[in-house]
Amino acid sequence: MKKIILSVLVTLLYFNSFCQKDYIPDASNLKARQWFEDAKFGMFIHWGVYSILGDGEWVMQHQNITVENYEKLPAFFNPLKFNAKEWVKIAKDAGMKYITITSRHHDGFSMFDSKATEYSIVKSTPYKKDILKELAAECKKENIKLFFYYSLLDWNRDDYFPRGRTGNGIKGRKEGNWMNYINFMKAQLTELLTNYGEIGGIWFDGDWDKKTANWHYDEIYKLIHDLQPQCLIGNNHHEAVKKGEDFQMFEKDLPGKATQRFASKAEDIGTLPKEVCETINGSWGFNLQDNRHKSKRELIQYLISASGYGSNLLLNVGPMPNGEIQPKHIQSLREIGNWLNTNGETIYGTKAGSISPSKDMVSTQKGKTLYLHSLNKNNQTIFIPDFKENISVVKLFRTKEKLKFKKDSYGLLLKIPDHALDDIDTIIEITLK
Ligand code: GLC
Repeated sequence: MKKIILSVLVTLLYFNSFCQKDYIPDASNLKARQWFEDAKFGMFIHWGVYSILGDGEWVMQHQNITVENYEKLPAFFNPLKFNAKEWVKIAKDAGMKYITITSRHHDGFSMFDSKATEYSIVKSTPYKKDILKELAAECKKENIKLFFYYSLLDWNRDDYFPRGRTGNGIKGRKEGNWMNYINFMKAQLTELLTNYGEIGGIWFDGDWDKKTANWHYDEIYKLIHDLQPQCLIGNNHHEAVKKGEDFQMFEKDLPGKATQRFASKAEDIGTLPKEVCETINGSWGFNLQDNRHKSKRELIQYLISASGYGSNLLLNVGPMPNGEIQPKHIQSLREIGNWLNTNGETIYGTKAGSISPSKDMVSTQKGKTLYLHSLNKNNQTIFIPDFKENISVVKLFRTKEKLKFKKDSYGLLLKIPDHALDDIDTIIEITLK
């Protein structure tokens, strides 16, 4: 009898270790999802030894830098101007509620203290400090949630083998053992979820490098949720969400827009909280020659549009090798923050509104209040076909001035007065019955 009980127990334990398939988020996770959906705006940070070269985070592959030569970079990484307090303040002033930072990118370099490798900011740079520790402490103090980006793809470790689609021009990559690589990732993720307090989420990237690999997600996701059940898992695999994930991400695209070659298919859009990520200029990691800064109007409208699609916006900065965020990025963030100071009520805590989003108009909604965001100043007359809900009052959001409207079986018709037309966003507040 004892034997039977024991073997049942062992079998249960065995299956349990593979059972993120049966993942049911616990109460803390559901709460974190709700928080995430309400938060709407986060800061993405791409920072690593690649920043020194000022040519983006893919520089190792783009310039085919040999492993041996790339490994010289950490010796030059001494970001004396890094100041966690300043970064968090910049994020907060922009109206951002969380920060997602690269803990390890495709170059395989760890920006935190890790016992699993010597190739880390603490062990192989003159700076020697664990920037994630400092950031975690400051975020906690300022009530900003911290998420870690973690690359599945690795151009440095021999154990990332067989190799994937990218990095094959990099000389010096050797052969190794895949299971060792999986165990290495588990060891690092355990560190990330043990040594930095409560973590908002893990943001995986690089799945697309080896579409048929066994990434052991069942075990990895379970490990994360066992260590921190509230930790939200997202994976930039550009596919429908997999069991065990807590939010869905869209790279450089509004959900369903699919303008990028790697975009998720419209049918893959699920019901989990959503997050769109985008850059302020054209690069993730610091790029000295990138002058494609988006305008204030473009950036603010992208945040509004993301909200209209029921999604967060994770907006990227690529800090410079000295540890400072680029002044132009700081300026853009301040402008967004100023806009949110006045208009944040129509963004934070909202859901996608009932009016379907388009390029010129999106809507957000909070209970009985529907916010119509008109993003094209030339559209003074607004017509929303098939508007079914009953309206009690229509106002300009900023001045609360009442607007006349006409609603019949064809739809809702209203006219924005001249003085209210705004180049970025004219917000109309519709109270429903
Ligand atoms: C892509 C890029 C990567 C970047 C990420 C951010 O996956 O490969 O460098 O970190 O997008 O969304």
